[in-house]
Amino acid sequence: MKINLANIKKAQKLLIKRECVAIPTETVYGLAANAYSDIACKKIYKLKKRPRNNPLIVHYLNNQILKKDCNFNNDFLKLYKKFCPGPITFILNLKKKSKISKIITNKKNTLAVRFPRHPVTRKLLKNISFPLAAPSANLSSKVSAVSSADVRDDFGKRVKYILEGGKSSIGLESTIIDIRNKPKVLRLGGLEISVIEKTLNKKIIFKNNPSKISAPGQFKIHYSPGIPIRLNAKKIKKDEAYLSIKKLKKNKSNFYFLSKNGSLKEAAKNLYSTLRKIKKNKHKSIAVNKVPNIGLGKTINDRLKRASKF
Ligand code: TXA
Ligand code: MG
Repeated sequence: MKINLANIKKAQKLLIKRECVAIPTETVYGLAANAYSDIACKKIYKLKKRPRNNPLIVHYLNNQILKKDCNFNNDFLKLYKKFCPGPITFILNLKKKSKISKIITNKKNTLAVRFPRHPVTRKLLKNISFPLAAPSANLSSKVSAVSSADVRDDFGKRVKYILEGGKSSIGLESTIIDIRNKPKVLRLGGLEISVIEKTLNKKIIFKNNPSKISAPGQFKIHYSPGIPIRLNAKKIKKDEAYLSIKKLKKNKSNFYFLSKNGSLKEAAKNLYSTLRKIKKNKHKSIAVNKVPNIGLGKTINDRLKRASKF
């Protein structure tokens, strides 16, 4: 994608003035602000109506810059070399002298960090002297935004500026891994656990329904399109949309598919935009056909399951 430098300059100016700006990433769009500024970070919580006890991910250009704020270990470096920039978020220990705003850490001594791959946001990060705190750019507990139009739909004029970056290429949030001790995945995401295990040559701990919630993205009701979703549905009700992973031979106007031939990568990319489209087309509910529980299918099922708790 061609980078528009004037747009980046505009985003940069607003961020320096401690305003929030929506930024494109390869996973989903983020609602960004200066992670070193309390004033700027408070604006994110207000705009998103996000509970103050839910900490934010901080986005860095590279691990050299991160050194100021966090301690890292060998497992982190192995995964960083292999997958960054990319769809993985690390939970690390904060350094005592770090200037990261206490607003976004919920006063804990850990920090979630990520190195986004999207070229527009990388260029922006190169041009500023602070990292960017950014949750997904959607209203709290709703479906994430994968385009600038989605962000506009959710926030209208309340977001001062949306940096254009086209449609997010992965379409699912990053995989969150606590790497401080025994590696533990806290949220399934755009990077499969099996490839992380291969890289570390270690078994990764992942509990789908932890009794203690450590990442509120694990709250049961989340990623909701705002209408009920029925999983593994066999029959379709009146006014209901039918969502399938693969295009069907018989196609009716209330049928929606996530990929032409069942590709899970394509399905992931289209999941959130299709859920938003179904809601816009005024269907009363969504019946979802079975999604294979392998690879990215596991993340898709995780999101659908949480969305179905509406
Ligand atoms: O792909 C992504 O990760 C996107 C893009 C914009 O980077 N961001 C994203 O942020 O999904 P958000 O805020 O929607 O989800 C971040 C999750 C939340 O569930 C939060 O509770 C968890 O990360 N989290 C943040 N800091 C944490 C920490 N120190 N320990 C455990 N979980 C943390
Ligand atoms: Mg989110």
